[in-house]
Amino acid sequence: MAGRLEGKVAVITGAASGIGRASARRFAAEGAHVVVADLDEGGGTALAEELGGLFVRADVTSADDVQAMYAAAIERFGGLDVLFNNAGISPPDDDSILETELDAWRRVQEVNLTSVYLCCKYGIPLLLEHGGGSVINTASFVAVMGAATSQISYTASKGGVLAMSRELGVQFARQGVRVNALCPGPVNTPLLRELFASDPERAARRLVHVPMGRFAEPEEIASAACFLASDDASFITASTFLVDGGISGA
Ligand code: NAI
Repeated sequence: MAGRLEGKVAVITGAASGIGRASARRFAAEGAHVVVADLDEGGGTALAEELGGLFVRADVTSADDVQAMYAAAIERFGGLDVLFNNAGISPPDDDSILETELDAWRRVQEVNLTSVYLCCKYGIPLLLEHGGGSVINTASFVAVMGAATSQISYTASKGGVLAMSRELGVQFARQGVRVNALCPGPVNTPLLRELFASDPERAARRLVHVPMGRFAEPEEIASAACFLASDDASFITASTFLVDGGISGA
């Protein structure tokens, strides 16, 4: 039986680690040609080799890098079907409104939000040229609820990703481009471990709010991304796609 993504060309940003890496593996297992885009050359190259895909070193905050990333994808695989705009960084250690400095705020907006703007700005016209496609932007459960976690710059950036995804989903709904915001709950990745490293009790406090009583594994987010990327999600656009172990429903 053919895979869910047979023959599709997917560009995944932040693909060298965590959710992106699990998704790259899942997409490839489902038949996609995967472009692994990341700053991390070592991890990205190894993964691309493992999957028979292409590694592109791209800083998603750079308009030039983003355009070059798509050009490389099209040159190698001859098309473009799926944009998984997933690269992101965790908030600074103390990200409360009282502590976060302007530089730290700007950096988080740049990597988490401006990057999605750039990837959509330069990627969606290419999807339109190639007959449509699926865009998945990684937001977070914090985009839909106050979490009292003092992550003001991070939460605001993810709220922006969610709002932008809805707007674009509506704008392109009749042109064959679906745009969805994937909103994971806490996921066991280096980003989450870094967040809790300075305050291990924070992990326990966060866990209390997850009805399932555990953090997600990256593969559980990857399977949702794979669904949204595939034609099985053909009537889903502009959605807030929560994969959060029940947090937002509690
Ligand atoms: P991760 O830290 O494991 O992976 C992030 C990847 O993005 C890394 O490989 C890193 O090199 C890359 N990256 C960072 N800045 C970049 C840049 N400027 N250009 C290109 N690549 C860059 O993180 P994880 O957990 O897999 O996060 C992926 C996405 O999921 C992020 O957007 C994050 O905010 C979001 N998310 C994560 C959650 C979690 O609990 N881990 C929960 C909800 C959302």
